[in-house]
Parts: sequence; C-alpha cells; structure tokens
Amino acid sequence: MTTTDHPTATTAVDPGPLIKLTISDCAAKVLHSAVDLGVFGALADSPADAATVADRSGLHDRMATDFLDALTGLGLLAREDGLYRNTPLTQAYLVPDSSAYLGGFVELTNETLYGTWGRLTEALRTGEPQHLDPDKGGFVGNRHQDPEKMKRFLAGLDAYSDRMGAELAHRVDWSRYDSFTDIGGARGNLAAVLAKAHPHLAATCFDLERTRPLFTEHIGRLGLADRVDFVGGDFFSDPIPEADVVVLGHILHGFDTGRRRALLSRIFDAVRPGGLVLVYDRMIDDDRRDPERLLSSLHMRLVSPEGSEYRVGDCHDWLHEAGFTGADAAPLLGTHTLVTAHR
Ligand SMILES: C[S@@+](CC[C@H](N)C(=O)[O-])C[C@H]1O[C@@H](n2cnc3c(N)ncnc32)[C@H](O)[C@@H]1O
Repeated sequence: MTTTDHPTATTAVDPGPLIKLTISDCAAKVLHSAVDLGVFGALADSPADAATVADRSGLHDRMATDFLDALTGLGLLAREDGLYRNTPLTQAYLVPDSSAYLGGFVELTNETLYGTWGRLTEALRTGEPQHLDPDKGGFVGNRHQDPEKMKRFLAGLDAYSDRMGAELAHRVDWSRYDSFTDIGGARGNLAAVLAKAHPHLAATCFDLERTRPLFTEHIGRLGLADRVDFVGGDFFSDPIPEADVVVLGHILHGFDTGRRRALLSRIFDAVRPGGLVLVYDRMIDDDRRDPERLLSSLHMRLVSPEGSEYRVGDCHDWLHEAGFTGADAAPLLGTHTLVTAHR
C-alpha cells in the first residue's frame, strides 16, 4: 500500500516547515515588542536576571521568561547563569541613543506592517493598494498633522538612511567627484551623512517643495545648514540640479516602468559627463527567486498604487536606454542592491 492510495496516511514530507512559516510573524512581533518595551536599553550597561529586566521594561511576570528566552533563541539576547545580556547585534543597533540606533525603523515597522499586510488577501483579489485608514495612523496617514508622530516617523526612516549613507560613503571613490544630488532625499539625512564623511563635496537634497521645512529643521539641528542645499521641485517636471553624482534611493520602486524610464532620462541630463548615478532599492534577482525581495515588492504593491520592486536586469536596461554606460550591481546592507552606472 502506498501513500498515494491513502492520502491521509503519514507522508514522507515533514510538515514542520509549513507550520513554522505559518507562525513566522510571531518572531518579528517579539522583536518589535522588545524595542517597544525598551528591553535592549534595559540591558545596555550590564546583564540582568529576568525579574530585573521585567521590572525595567514593564513586562508582566507571566510573560517575562518565555519572552526573554524567545528573544534569546532568536539570537537577540544571550543568557548565561540566569542573566540576560544583549548580543553584539542588538547592543550595536537597538540601544536607544546610540549613534547606530535602528530601533526607530523597528518601531515604524511595528506600527505600519500588520495593518497593511493584514489586508494582503484583499489586495491580491482587487489589485488595490491597502492604505490604512489615515485616522487610525496609516503608513503616512495623519502624521503630517501631528508633529510628534511625524518626528518619530522620520526618525524611523533616518535610522535606516544613516546606515545607507555610511555604506555609500565608502562604496564610491568620492575623491573623483565634487558634488552630488540626492533625488527624493526627504529631509536630507543621507545627504548629511555623505557631506559629513566627505567635506569637499557640494551636497544637494532635491525633494518636493513641501518637504523644505522638514529639511530646514533637520539639517539645522545637525549643524549642516551651510553644507547641504535644498532644491524643491517635482522630479518629473521641474529642472533637476546638475551634479557629478546623482543618488536615487527608494525612488524607482514607487512608480511604474514608464515613469521610471522617464525619470532616468531626466536624471541622465542632470549627471555631468564623467559622473555617476547610484540607484538603490530592494531589487529582485533576475531569476525572481529571492523571497525577501519578492515580499518587498508585494509590500510596495500593497502600499502604493503603481509601485513594486524590479529586477536588477531591468534597471540596467532602463539606465542604458537613458544613455548611461557600464551598470554594475552589488549587494548593499544585506537587504538592498546598489546599481552604479556612468555617464
Ligand atoms: C520613499 S522616500 C525615499 C527617501 C530617501 N531617498 C530614502 O532612501 O530613504 C521618497 C521621497 O521622494 C519624494 N518624492 C516623491 N515624489 C516626488 C516627486 N515627484 N518629486 C520630488 N520628490 C518626490 C518624497 O517626498 C520622499 O521624500
């Protein structure tokens, strides 16, 4: 008798991976809540036992040990002789007030991910993006009207662009260039990181005019008002300031192919001869197999009407079509792809 004769009999295929995948959201949520509750800050200076961590971060006794041991199992804490401590990863990136703090990005994800992804089935059926109700604090939602919320939102994004800027600062031989423009550079955080790392560079952040006050406030606070300029405009219709290097981060994934091509053609005109364009996004491998990139692409389809991630090869084609030469692709931060092309 074979298993085909009796489909209900135990098969040789282990169902474990299916069950694990079904509950894989739980691991992300444990990390999100640990940041929310300040667990990594509570362990920043010294190891502590469960009762002490619970006390410092407001954990209920009934939940504390399983929660802390789950964090340990996920590699986010270490436990020895009943004492918990941060791992090198969480000590480096999740202790509040540290220069490399990424917790703002975790908090932002915690706030926005579940409501949106909870509506994936609807999006798959209708093709419609599933913005959260702005009154319930959707992806950007009413944050613009609440300065505190907006500040946390932007801080969350900056936590990420700090890392990205630090990476770009050493991935390019900037000594060969005099200027750069960050297109869609938001409140100028990445431009600030690059300008600080390479003081000889003339730095410009180009974004919608409505972003100017956020830029002015942020760059002023960083003490870089005389180093980074802001040019307000629409990159599809207004003149794009010329520079030796133009950076396009998390921009192409917001638009459909026609608009990506149109934008890259305008960018070509803005890059000075001998200069570079740097494009980064969570691009899809050409064989379309990397699940993380494909999930990221679905995410863009969920949160925007025409956005998605796109294949590295497609990016090369659009760049060449725009007039650039020699596009190279390289992994960036383990999550993104950086494509560099020359004019
Ligand atoms: C997803 S954010 C990317 C921010 C930043 N480059 C990064 O990598 O984190 C997109 C940015 O592009 C800007 N933007 C969107 N459409 C634009 C347009 N038509 N012209 C100029 N800026 C635009 C938005 O205001 C926003 O700051």
